[in-house]
This record gives sequence, C-alpha cells and structure tokens, in this order.
Amino acid sequence: MSATPQIPVPHGLDTPLPMTLPRLAEKKRLGERIVMVTAYDYPSAQVAQEAGVDIVLVGDSGAMTVLGYPSTVPVSTDEMLMLSAAVRRGLSTPLLVGDLPFGSYEGSDEQAVITAQRFVKEAGCDAVKLERGGTSAQRARAVVAAGIPVMGHVGLTPQTATVLGGYRAQARTAESALLLAGDALALQQAGCFSIVLEAIPAAVADVLMERIEVPVIGIGAGAGTDGQVLVFHDLLGIYDHTPRFAKRYAEVKAQMVAGIAAFAAEVRNGAFPGPEHAYSIDEQELDRFRASLGQ
Ligand code: KIV
Repeated sequence: MSATPQIPVPHGLDTPLPMTLPRLAEKKRLGERIVMVTAYDYPSAQVAQEAGVDIVLVGDSGAMTVLGYPSTVPVSTDEMLMLSAAVRRGLSTPLLVGDLPFGSYEGSDEQAVITAQRFVKEAGCDAVKLERGGTSAQRARAVVAAGIPVMGHVGLTPQTATVLGGYRAQARTAESALLLAGDALALQQAGCFSIVLEAIPAAVADVLMERIEVPVIGIGAGAGTDGQVLVFHDLLGIYDHTPRFAKRYAEVKAQMVAGIAAFAAEVRNGAFPGPEHAYSIDEQELDRFRASLGQ
C-alpha cells in the first residue's frame, strides 16, 4: 500500500466543485445528464470519484454485492453505516447518498428522522434515499423537515419485492402506472430533491418526466430520464448475476480471479517474491546479528 501523504488541494479553477442540490437541479434545467453509481467501500468510492460521477449511492444493494446476503432485506443500519462511512472517506466531490435499509424508517416519522440523522452524523452522508410511495412519502416529508435531503425511489423497490411479485418490471398496466405516478408525485410533493425510477417501461417514464420537476434518475427506465444509475458490481462485472437493465462495461471479476490465480501459481512455483520485492540489510549488520544470535 502506498504511503503517499494526502495533501488537501484548495478548490481552484481546475478542481471539480462538490456536487450540491442546486447544481443537480441546474443540470436538469440545462438538460445535462446526471451520472450516479453505487459504491460500498473506500476503493470503490475512490474509483467513482476519479471517474467524475455526480452522485454516489451507498445502496442497500451492497447487502448482496459485498455482504453476500440473498436480498437487500437483512442488511442492518449499522452495516449500512459502516459501508457509508468507508465510502465517505474515499469521496470528496460527488453527492453522497446513503440508502435507508428495510425496517429502519417505515415504522414512524421519528424512526425515519433518527435513522437519517445517523447517516449524516455518523457516516457523513449528504442525503438519504428511501423506497416506495405511500407512507414513505410521509417519512420523506418528516426527514426533509428535519433538514436532511431525501431521494425517493419507486417502481421496482427491492426491499418490498415480495409484495411486488418478485424482481420484475413494474407499471406495465394503466392502473399500476397510475399508482406509480401518484407515488412519484407524492414524493416530489414531500420535498424529495430527486427520484429514482427502477424497472418500469420507458414510455411510462417518459410520461412521468413531463410532470416531475426534480431530477429523475433511471435504472431500467429507458433513456428519457435526467440521469442513470447502475450498481458498481453490475457495471464492472464483479457480481455474477447481472439484471436485464444493467450493462457490463468491464469484466473485473474475471481479472481479479486471474490476478489471484497468477499470484497463487507464482507462490507455489517459487517465482514470487523475487529479489526486487525483498528488503536488504548491510552485510556488517547481518554479521553482527548472526554473531549476537550465536552468543
Ligand atoms: O440499492 C441500490 O443500489 C439502489 C439503486 C439500484 C438505485 O437502490
């Protein structure tokens, strides 16, 4: 690991400005696409930072991609806070959004505010995200009133995939599209600064885009939204299962396996470590060491 000291660079003309809510709204107004990815630890945050994305979400998808749970449901607030704090340490310019996990905000406005405050105070998040409309719109209103920006999330909401009939596209009938529209508008009304639309027909997203004034980030919602989000492990090919709406831009897992396998082979055949990976000691010091050991 490098011991290079981190020298803080003051913001100048050539350093990117931190993303803010007004800058996001401005991007929407100007028709500039917003880029969001998930990250779950210090190195993935640094990668997102260096790639110049606008928003980083510590998604509860991390339950599956980095913690190995079968769904997003079991992940706890403490686990999400640990992941979020690690991401915070690797990030300076993108807006950092922490995902409120299942069971941490639905019970009451007070519960939602207390959990959201923990994401801001303990993990350094700029904002939080919660899933669904209905009572979640009321929770969003309470969290916004407490001074914490909230991102909404409707369509396929993995925390409640069971009631949605599984991990499947939503809003494919006029009735369900209308319900979705009501939820999205209620979240906007509640003060959400942005809304994620997941796994809905592109044409439904396009209709909603005519009515939603805050930046809309799509995932499996077509090309008409203000921005796109993908899960870090899906887009880099680290997680084995890739949903239909994700596109792989790299095959990182295959490279990681190849790297570890090459290391294992070189350890086993004695090719690693070589002299260039070893430290030297002055001959005289070594002799003195040998002599003292012999005494
Ligand atoms: O948890 C997550 O990664 C998400 C994104 C897919 C929006 O909620």
